[in-house]
Amino acid sequence: MRTKIVAGNWKMNKNLDETEALLSELSAKLPDTHAEVIVAPTFLNLVAAQTSLQSSAIKVAAQNMHFAESGAYTGEISADMLLNIEVDTVIIGHSERRSLFGETDDLLAKKTKTALDKGMTVIFCFGEELEDRKSGNHFAVVESQLKNALFDLDNSAWNNIVLAYEPVWAIGTGETASPEQAQEMHAFIRKTIAEAYSTSIAEEVSILYGGSVKPSNAVEIFSKPDVDGGLIGGASLKADDFTAIIKAI
Ligand code: 13P
Repeated sequence: MRTKIVAGNWKMNKNLDETEALLSELSAKLPDTHAEVIVAPTFLNLVAAQTSLQSSAIKVAAQNMHFAESGAYTGEISADMLLNIEVDTVIIGHSERRSLFGETDDLLAKKTKTALDKGMTVIFCFGEELEDRKSGNHFAVVESQLKNALFDLDNSAWNNIVLAYEPVWAIGTGETASPEQAQEMHAFIRKTIAEAYSTSIAEEVSILYGGSVKPSNAVEIFSKPDVDGGLIGGASLKADDFTAIIKAI
């Protein structure tokens, strides 16, 4: 299912009123597109988002979830809770979860497994830090992030995984990987998956780029053959910018 996808990760932005306002503007302005369009508001506003988007092609995703079925995990949200409100897509492994909340490859492997076992789609994020790139370690870091969290999964799990390569140095910094850097890494990711699994699995998985994607750079980034779309932060919070990025694909 190598599909084109444009997903907006709203992070900790937009209260209920703002969520409803942005979604109604987005629905009204949504261009005709072959791409899947996803928005990930905060947990608190997922139900409202589902209601607002009832007659829209835009899908709703969660930004995180816990790996356990249920129980004494204060402040956490389970896969079943998301599925109960018909949210079947979840972002896992965002660099902010890794760096600010101490989420490790091990934990992300558990979350991913639970989500997939429950029949959900996982948008799995990973990417190197600036020092890794400067020291030429970026390929090794990305390979180990993928291997540690995903490579114990069965072949069939890959039907429900979307990858999002997000170099940490490009997130929210205004600095973007060049289209060539994005293509180089996406091709490397596909090769790594082909070696661990098969060429057909590698060819079928959608790999999104994330990190300061804007209307002004989206066309060039999305034109690269191994870039299947984007995971958009800041620019997904403005309907005009987000729709311009959707048009770019
Ligand atoms: P920005 O687009 O704001 O750089 O954020 C990217 C991101 O983290 C999406 O998950």
